[in-house]
Amino acid sequence: MEKMKALVYNKKGLPDKLFYRNVEKPRPNDNEVLIKILAVSANAADYRSMRMGIIPKRRIFGADIAGRVESVGENIRQFKPGDEVIGDLSDCGFGGFAEYAVAPEKALIPKPTKILFEEAAALPMAGITALQALRDKGNIQKGQKVLIVGSGGGVGTFAVQLAKYFGAVVTAVCSTKNVEQTSSLGADYVIDYTKEDFTKSNRSYDLILAVNGNRSLSAYKRILNPNGKYVMVGGALVQIFKSILFGWLMSFGSKKMRSLAAKSNQKDLEFIVKLVEDGKIKPVIERRYPLDKAADAMRYLGEGHARGKVVINVE
Ligand SMILES: NC(=O)c1ccc[n+]([C@@H]2O[C@H](COP(=O)([O-])OP(=O)(O)OC[C@H]3O[C@@H](n4cnc5c(N)ncnc54)[C@H](OP(=O)(O)O)[C@@H]3O)[C@@H](O)[C@H]2O)c1
Repeated sequence: MEKMKALVYNKKGLPDKLFYRNVEKPRPNDNEVLIKILAVSANAADYRSMRMGIIPKRRIFGADIAGRVESVGENIRQFKPGDEVIGDLSDCGFGGFAEYAVAPEKALIPKPTKILFEEAAALPMAGITALQALRDKGNIQKGQKVLIVGSGGGVGTFAVQLAKYFGAVVTAVCSTKNVEQTSSLGADYVIDYTKEDFTKSNRSYDLILAVNGNRSLSAYKRILNPNGKYVMVGGALVQIFKSILFGWLMSFGSKKMRSLAAKSNQKDLEFIVKLVEDGKIKPVIERRYPLDKAADAMRYLGEGHARGKVVINVE
């Protein structure tokens, strides 16, 4: 039985439940690709799932991977050994905090050589979430006034850049330490939430993305323009529950309050990757960890104040 290193969840571990250890190396079935992972990024989905007791089948978290195809199952047509790939394993059991993972073809796309492995690993979940929130739920239009609440983290840094790419006038909300970074990503106006309450100003917006924080739905609705849309992406759990439970109730009239449940999607990932390849957007990587320190990466992300993406370089 071949072995590999991985960060494995063990519910009996205290105080930390993640352990770096040898486990069985996965073997691809006929419809799977075996990938040698070179980089993987951590997402809120990883630590939130762990806190809620939602544990992946092989007890290994990590969805956003970049690596090289090691071998392929009999029915695989799109990829061959040696191909460089980017993957989103969120729909196929996670398993990215490891030296190897298996995935169906639909979870993978080719990685352009121009994009580094660690950059590639920073793209899938955060990039796709920001895209689906702005374009699909928010129906973003050129010239619209867009407010992004929580512009400092993984999703927020992509949301600011994508909203600018779609031609919006972007106002972003973050804490003092992220003001400069948010401006450098293209935001037209940046509000420091430690100094100013954006819900109490007389500015209003066509589209609001609630990426982080916890504000009342009525405060958000008040600063929406007629026909405006509020899209709840994430934030404190209470923010998420309020939006899911009461958003539809508050959507009578022209202002709409919606919630996003982002879905892994090859086409959307290709869209994000092409924008990065063309230099239109870029991943913001704040911290890098080796695989044997991936538990520290999860702990850091779990504190809720990462500035952009946290990446684990496996090699
Ligand atoms: N709906 C979906 O399908 C979906 C998909 C992916 C993620 N999500 C959710 O989206 C949220 C963001 O994900 P992420 O990957 O970007 O997380 P993240 O990288 O951990 O976000 C951290 C950022 O949030 C900011 N933040 C924390 N408290 C804030 C507040 N009160 N107001 C404004 N900003 C605040 C922090 O900036 P400061 O240090 O400046 O405060 C930090 O930069 C999470 O709740 C996640 O669960 C949802």
